[in-house]
Parts: sequence; structure tokens; C-alpha cells
Amino acid sequence: MKVLGLVSSPRKGGNGHTLVENILAGAAENGAETELIRLTDVEIKPCLDCGFCKKEGNTTCMQKDAMADIYAKLEAADAVIFGMPIYFGRPNAPFLGFIDRMYAMANPDFSPRLPKDKKFATVITLGGGGLDVVEANHATLAGIFGGMFGWTDCGFLWKNMMHDRKAVAGNPEAIAEAKAFGKKLTE
Ligand SMILES: Cc1cc2nc3c(=O)[nH]c(=O)nc-3n(C[C@H](O)[C@H](O)[C@H](O)COP(=O)(O)O)c2cc1C
Repeated sequence: MKVLGLVSSPRKGGNGHTLVENILAGAAENGAETELIRLTDVEIKPCLDCGFCKKEGNTTCMQKDAMADIYAKLEAADAVIFGMPIYFGRPNAPFLGFIDRMYAMANPDFSPRLPKDKKFATVITLGGGGLDVVEANHATLAGIFGGMFGWTDCGFLWKNMMHDRKAVAGNPEAIAEAKAFGKKLTE
């Protein structure tokens, strides 16, 4: 089983990053092959809505950047973990930029170009917003990856009051929870 983690927080070693690392560690304990990509470490250009990906005969985006590699890794993955912090009530900009570029993975009739037999789970970190903010953002992802792409939604892990970048790293319970989440996902 291949599990891909995509983390959009710019904070290396921060809370979302650490949670996804430990979810992947839990999955690896079950024998999964894992990889984590920090979306802020790679170049992801904004979607141009140029129409190239929807023209007959084209199957992907015309832009040359890290998304070509990410599309291939998403295609190969059995499960995907999205890690995103909440900024102003919605996913931070690098995550939104990534979502926009997923447009190229849909056919002109908006059927998916990627296989549907994938699981996905979401890790949401935030500073003080409550479960309502988390649920609203999870619902957005469920609509895109569960609805449009047809992947199986395995729920979300969230941590609040995460202003301190090392809050999760210093919390063995949160680490254990993330590992257990990764194990369950790959049972
Ligand atoms: C520009 C900006 C906007 C933010 N907006 C919110 C917000 O609307 N609600 C909230 O609960 N936290 C907000 N935060 C706090 C982050 O969600 C919080 O620091 C987050 O847990 C960081 O997670 P990380 O350690 O995974 O990067 C904001 C932080 C920044 C930098």
C-alpha cells in the first residue's frame, strides 16, 4: 500500500507536518510505503484557467512545475493524507493553490482522470477556531476528493490552539493519536 502525505503548512516541523509524519509512521508500521511532500518546498504555479486540460486530446496541465510529479504520485497512491492549517477560516494559500491545480485531473465532463479506488484523510491545525470551522473545511475537501474524485473519505484529525509550532512535537499523546490514525487507515 502506498500512502502519500501532502502538507501545506510553511512551518517545517510544525504541528500539521508532525501529525502527518506520524500518521505515515503508523502506516509504515503496517508495511505501507510512505512519502511526504511539503507543498511549500516545491513550485506550484496558480491555475490559469487556460482550458488546455479540457481540450480534446489533452490529459493534464500545460504548466511545467512540481504538479506533474504530484499528479503521478497521486495516481500511484492508495491513500492520501492532506495536512493543512486554517488561515482566515479556510485552508492556507498553498493548499488552495494545490486544489485549483487538481482541475487538470478532471475530464471535460468533470469525471476524474485519476483512479477512484483511493482513500483520503485530512489533518487540520488551527489557532483557536472551533470544530465548526474544521467541519466546514473538511466538508469542502469531502466535496472535492470524495464527491468529484470519488475517493473514500476516512475522516479527519484536528488540533486546536496550535499557535506554538512545537505544540504537537511536545505532546506524546498527540503523536500516539496520529500514529494510531495511520495504523487504522492502513489496516
Ligand atoms: C495568516 C494566518 C491566519 C490565521 N487564521 C486563523 C483562523 O482563521 N482561525 C484559526 O483558528 N487560526 C488561524 N491562524 C492560526 C493557524 O491556524 C495556526 O497557527 C495553525 O495551527 C498552524 O498550524 P501548523 O503548526 O500546522 O502550521 C492563522 C494563522 C495565520 C498565519
